[in-house]
Amino acid sequence: MQQQIARTDLLAAAVEGLSEAPVVALLGARQVGKTTLAMQVAGAWQGPFRVFDLEVASVREALSAAPERLLRECEGLVVLDEVQRMPRLFEILRPICDAPGRKAVFLLLGSASWGLIKGISETLAGRILFVDVGGFSLAEAGAQNQGRLWMRGGFPRAYLAPSESAWARWMQSFARTFLERDVPGLGSKVSSEALGRFWRMLAHYHGQVWNASELARSMDASTTAVNHYRDLLAGTFMIRVLPPWFENLGKRIVKSPKVLLRDSGILHFLLGLKNPRDLSLHPRYGASWEGFALEQTLLAHGERNAYFYATQRGAELDLLLLRLGQRWGFEFKCGDAPRTTKSMHIVMQDLGLAHLWVVYPGDLRYPLAENITALPLKNIREIGAEGFTDSNA
Ligand SMILES: Nc1ncnc2c1ncn2[C@@H]1O[C@H](COP(=O)(O)OP(=O)(O)OP(=O)(O)O)[C@@H](O)[C@H]1O
Ligand SMILES: [Mg+2]
Repeated sequence: MQQQIARTDLLAAAVEGLSEAPVVALLGARQVGKTTLAMQVAGAWQGPFRVFDLEVASVREALSAAPERLLRECEGLVVLDEVQRMPRLFEILRPICDAPGRKAVFLLLGSASWGLIKGISETLAGRILFVDVGGFSLAEAGAQNQGRLWMRGGFPRAYLAPSESAWARWMQSFARTFLERDVPGLGSKVSSEALGRFWRMLAHYHGQVWNASELARSMDASTTAVNHYRDLLAGTFMIRVLPPWFENLGKRIVKSPKVLLRDSGILHFLLGLKNPRDLSLHPRYGASWEGFALEQTLLAHGERNAYFYATQRGAELDLLLLRLGQRWGFEFKCGDAPRTTKSMHIVMQDLGLAHLWVVYPGDLRYPLAENITALPLKNIREIGAEGFTDSNA
């Protein structure tokens, strides 16, 4: 039997969500572990539960006939899996949620965000809580497995693959299914060949500022087309579009977003890297660390109010988080003994950061300058309260 990795925080967030709202949505990429998590929620559920897998045509048909009556009669926990296959359900759920004497709570699972969230937020506003399901976090995988998690990425089957070649085969089949089945399944008419080419090209631009006209030129496509590809990959949780932070500082500030592949394993697969040695020799090694450590930081501290900052003169901050009424800065450095740079001091001043964390793969946490600390990635979850007291000191 395959090894099972406990996802305690996610499970708790889903269970807690269901005690606070009639609908909880678990949203995340294909194959990231949503159904598994939902079954664990159901397993911990005290009382009846029922599962509708909307990927199955007969289930969709059964639900289409008289959805309102069917759902209204359900009691306990109702899991609606692959809900992007039947967006119409959102409208149906609203009166059911509002009905006095409601007997059920609903757990929705989906692997597409944009249309989905749009539909939900309009019809189910105030009735729904979202739980983002990402790949495995470092806390889930265990700090001792950081190298493996970085190389292979956090998709359960990729991370747990029994060998390097099994990992590569899984990636190959995942990418293919995603392009040839999942994206068309969302009603997209984009050619899978073009989207695949764009995806691979983005791997080479990983961590760079978005430049639609440059990508359009390299792909011999229009800027409208590449913007559409970008939205499609972002809406299916494959890439992250990190917005720039700007305020009127009297400086010339970069105002385009940065684009990163969210899963380091997919990045490495698309770059043709097979093992940690390939990775360490690759020109995108530093960018790969940046993306991996950034995603882990967002898994630990949430992804709302996250930005990057860059001036035209070269001062840069990889990640700015607005938390607890403060500005927290993060730089991601893959060397074994990070130091301060001129850019860090400029950014501290420009943005008035409460603290700047230089996040690196090593083991030792140490101060670098006033309010600047070198922090091992494995300690990323520890910083909240301390960031707060530091600036209050
Ligand atoms: N916590 C875990 N530990 C070990 N394996 C896991 C874990 N979660 C999921 N998996 C495995 O990963 C694979 C995908 O999981 P699952 O079907 O739950 O994902 P999903 O997000 O529902 O995928 P899809 O979007 O394709 O429906 C399965 O083979 C599952 O057994
Ligand atoms: Mg599933």
